Amino acid sequence: MAYDVIVIGSGPGGYVCAVKAAQLGLKVAVVEKRATYGGTCLNIGCIPSKALLHASEMFHQAAHGMDALGVEVGAPKLNLDKMMAHKDATVKSNVEGVSFLFKKNKIDGIQGTGKIVSAGKVSVTNDKGEVQELEAKSIVIATGSDVAGIPGVSVDIDETVIVSSTGGIKLTKVPEKMVVVGGGVIGLELGSVWLRLGAKVTVVEYLDTILGGMDGDVSKQFQRMLAKQGMEFQLGAKVTGVAKSGTGAKVTYEPVKGGEATTIDADVVLIATGRKPFTAGLGLEEAGVVLDNRGRVEIDGHYRTNVPGIYAIGDVVKGPMLAHKAEDEGVALAEILAGQHGHVNYDVIPGVVYTQPEVASVGKTEEELKAAGIAYKVGKFPFTANGRARAMLATDGFVKILADKDTDRVLGGHIIGFGAGEMIHEIAVLMEFGGSSEDLGRTCHAHPTMSEAVKEAALATFFKPIHM
Ligand code: NAI
Repeated sequence: MAYDVIVIGSGPGGYVCAVKAAQLGLKVAVVEKRATYGGTCLNIGCIPSKALLHASEMFHQAAHGMDALGVEVGAPKLNLDKMMAHKDATVKSNVEGVSFLFKKNKIDGIQGTGKIVSAGKVSVTNDKGEVQELEAKSIVIATGSDVAGIPGVSVDIDETVIVSSTGGIKLTKVPEKMVVVGGGVIGLELGSVWLRLGAKVTVVEYLDTILGGMDGDVSKQFQRMLAKQGMEFQLGAKVTGVAKSGTGAKVTYEPVKGGEATTIDADVVLIATGRKPFTAGLGLEEAGVVLDNRGRVEIDGHYRTNVPGIYAIGDVVKGPMLAHKAEDEGVALAEILAGQHGHVNYDVIPGVVYTQPEVASVGKTEEELKAAGIAYKVGKFPFTANGRARAMLATDGFVKILADKDTDRVLGGHIIGFGAGEMIHEIAVLMEFGGSSEDLGRTCHAHPTMSEAVKEAALATFFKPIHM
């Protein structure tokens, strides 16, 4: 049977594209090699890590945060098996949710590994080795990404002692010493989980700052906060070797600026040095689909590859490797395939680091504006001056707004603080509508809320805040 669309991969990019295309009246099939839908995000990424981040934060709060509020609970006891069961149950309900959406929208889910035979033809090999051939007007590559490993270093990731994020969310006991290679999002999120549960965590990062690419003010203050929580950092340090040793492993790093190498021991090493587009076995070369110099499927502004009828979205193409960016591309492409005008605004894609406190940003950083020679104004407001934050003992952090010096149009927003990942969206919506810091500062915000700090930072950008 011929489909309008075959989507290869059921992560946030693929499954959302499939649902939207079906909602718009197209006949859709999704090919997925995993036993469950949802891709990396739902099965081994965003969703399980958030279950562990929340549970480990509750554990940490019970031990360290409640006493000051007059809640005396004694020393909490960790039941790691139960915490992992909560994570597994969270994954199960989410992947089942995708199955439900496929049924509801009459999408054919086909288990197996998809390979593009040519434009319009996909072969699918299932677990039993059986092959079937499917036909469609359009093929969407949504195969996501895989662990990149450490550039230039050969590391045997066994997912027990030397782990990627996949093994990092299923350790069977809390390591005494954990070394995290890479101070990016995965390293700091999963490092936080195991730190809260009792591990001594050392992050070794190549750059001089953590969260490279984030606003400088934010990453500096964030590092101080994590250090206060007990996370140790070796910055400007290049990891040159990771090897198993006895029941643990040894990590060797050297100063990027040159100097003596250091070797440290770890019970578990988390490799969090980025991800790479996943295109292996897809038949792209045979089908003539061109990749760019970083191994990503090359696309134009409408997600078209160089081969007519073959499209690509999500982590396998350029842009930030974020689930919500993939989802929005999925929607836009489905609309295009249905004859509408799908579009993604790449200037307004929020990013959130789900640590405690959270770090969230949207739009340009101060460093980017400087580099682009754009004249800007800055408004900052600390949570120490926010009543709700004081009431919750959540005064760590600040809101920073960047606006165009002449037009006052908001160009970027950066928040570090409790609930930053929720608050960032009011800045995103404002930016989507081309709003100014005055618009934001004049919008009535409920009192007392953490979000008032966003309003105050906006007031600080175009004139003066009230509470400072
Ligand atoms: P990343 O690119 O965010 O960070 C990797 C870090 O490793 C960089 O800071 C880099 O300088 C460092 N590094 C590379 N080679 C090194 C070496 N030899 N020695 C020391 N440091 C080295 O990658 P990460 O954290 O693995 O995440 C992968 C992808 O997944 C990212 O695109 C990220 O955006 C996404 N992700 C997003 C999440 C979120 O939005 N909350 C959560 C988890 C992942």
